[in-house]
Amino acid sequence: MKKRNLSLITGASAGLGAEFARQYAAKGWDVALTARRLDRLDALARELEDKYGVAAFTIAQDLSKEGAADAIIHELKEAGRHVDALVNNAGYGLPGTFFNTSWEEQAAFIQVLYTAPIELVHKLLPGMAERNFGRIINVASLAGYTPGSSGHTLYASVKAGLIKFSESIHAEAEAAGHDIHCTALCPGFTWTEFHDVNGTREMTNEWPDWMWMEAGPVVKAGLDGVSRGAPVVVPGAVNKGLATLTRILPEPLGRAVMKQQGKRFRKTD
Ligand SMILES: NC(=O)c1ccc[n+]([C@@H]2O[C@H](COP(=O)([O-])OP(=O)(O)OC[C@H]3O[C@@H](n4cnc5c(N)ncnc54)[C@H](OP(=O)(O)O)[C@@H]3O)[C@@H](O)[C@H]2O)c1
Repeated sequence: MKKRNLSLITGASAGLGAEFARQYAAKGWDVALTARRLDRLDALARELEDKYGVAAFTIAQDLSKEGAADAIIHELKEAGRHVDALVNNAGYGLPGTFFNTSWEEQAAFIQVLYTAPIELVHKLLPGMAERNFGRIINVASLAGYTPGSSGHTLYASVKAGLIKFSESIHAEAEAAGHDIHCTALCPGFTWTEFHDVNGTREMTNEWPDWMWMEAGPVVKAGLDGVSRGAPVVVPGAVNKGLATLTRILPEPLGRAVMKQQGKRFRKTD
């Protein structure tokens, strides 16, 4: 019997990652769920197996640790499975200024949000090319478009990097004639645990409801985008408008706006 396609989703224990798992399973894909909290992954895996009759693998790994990407790939290989879709979603915000945070915290942040996703793509691409099929979603952010601001220093940098990286992988796959699509998904404010984890919930509660999206439509936009081969997807009309604004505003004005507004969702202490 032909095995179902498999989607590997990082950061699947909460928020957008759990929603990616639900939407892939609803499409009849098997899923491999990874994050640090195994109890949550196991509960989600049982839910998806019961509801959709798919296979759900759970792999507890901390992506800040070197070797985590290899360990995930090894575990799937042992189970006799290859990855047809990769969703690089795990992430968090690191509050504080660069000056006030330790190098250990910054290095772990770069590892989780930039190095590990890129490493997973590098190690899974050859198999995708061999089978001539692959779908890759790198969850970036609207922050990848906006100017840098005070606090959460590297967040905008790594998200901008993921957008450029996704565009390059998209271009390279297209040039090689492979049926491999790579998409950077750039959400704005989305209802998940993200702002609870980084301690900005009270600040971000001040932003009006129309600025926010539910995880469902954000993930759907990502899945639709990667299916049609879009290199970058900005979900929702408000976020699309903001992304356009960042491109047409003169740079000094953009930086001035971020200086003002950044204080309302980034912590500098
Ligand atoms: N929510 C927003 O407003 C928003 C906007 C733009 C972009 N994003 C991006 O969306 C992505 C998903 O975030 P979310 O909003 O869904 O946040 P979330 O609800 O807090 O989920 C974050 C996920 O990342 C995992 N994770 C965090 N650190 C990890 C580590 N060291 N190793 C492995 N997994 C780790 C968490 O799992 P464990 O804690 O179990 O490890 C969790 O599953 C992130 O890349 C974020 O930057 C979010």
